[in-house]
Amino acid sequence: MAFILAKISHGGAGCETPASPARPEPPMTDAATLTSLIQARAGAEPVRLGLILGSGLGHLGRAVTGTAIPYADLPGFPHSAVSGHTPMLTIGDLEGVRVAVFGAREHYYERGNPAAMRLPLAVLKALGGDSVIVTNAAGSLTADIGPGDLMLLSDHINYNGLNPLIGEPTDARFVPMTAAHDPELRQGLRAAALALGLPLPEGVYCWYSGPSFETPAEIRMLRLLGADAVGMSTVPEVILARFLGLRVAAISSITNMAAGLSDERIGHDHTKAMAPVGAAKLERILRHFLQVLR
Ligand code: HPA
Repeated sequence: MAFILAKISHGGAGCETPASPARPEPPMTDAATLTSLIQARAGAEPVRLGLILGSGLGHLGRAVTGTAIPYADLPGFPHSAVSGHTPMLTIGDLEGVRVAVFGAREHYYERGNPAAMRLPLAVLKALGGDSVIVTNAAGSLTADIGPGDLMLLSDHINYNGLNPLIGEPTDARFVPMTAAHDPELRQGLRAAALALGLPLPEGVYCWYSGPSFETPAEIRMLRLLGADAVGMSTVPEVILARFLGLRVAAISSITNMAAGLSDERIGHDHTKAMAPVGAAKLERILRHFLQVLR
């Protein structure tokens, strides 16, 4: 039910199915209305690129010179924030490029809605964006990538089998995912990392719903399936971005070795404490990437 309501309030590609609310929902809105509202506050100059910030990476929003709009002022934007996220949309300049920084995301595990980020991404598109870089905190499954490191996603595994496009009535739902993680954006990010002398290995990210962490047996299974990192987000956003025609790349800030792979304690506090280590490198890479894009 939450999914159907979200689809309607997101003003997606023509879903008109009536539904009665199971719980209070934000007022109905659509991307065009929100875009006007945002442009009235932040100016109408088109945005080029969006950034979605993961756990503990929120300070990147403050690096932008521009207008910060609380999600609470944007009907239909995620209204429950997980600690370590900053529910603000910041529109402005980062290294000479006009960006839209989404300081918080809604995860599937919050309300069971895999399409929760459809409206923010549709707004990014309506603001003029053609690309989005998604960030997250993740656990590593490979000895080559450890806590404090970054990993660029070469591909992903949608282990949950959930999909934000279920219920989408148009043929646009049949989104090819063969090169979902945009080769050109990835090349640009790798080049930025190389120029800075920062390692940016690539790997496969597996979406595991959360909010509980994985068991060691599950991690052994995910390794067999070909995952290099595991986390609780990103995959629905990559699918939605491709659906909307946005180019997308994603970077994990590795906060821990996944369950059973080290003696280190795993938990959300640890994630929040470790994410800034990767975030400092991430900020340098993104700034360099934008300087080249400019
Ligand atoms: N598993 C899932 N999500 C995560 C992890 C993890 O080990 N670390 C940070 N986010």
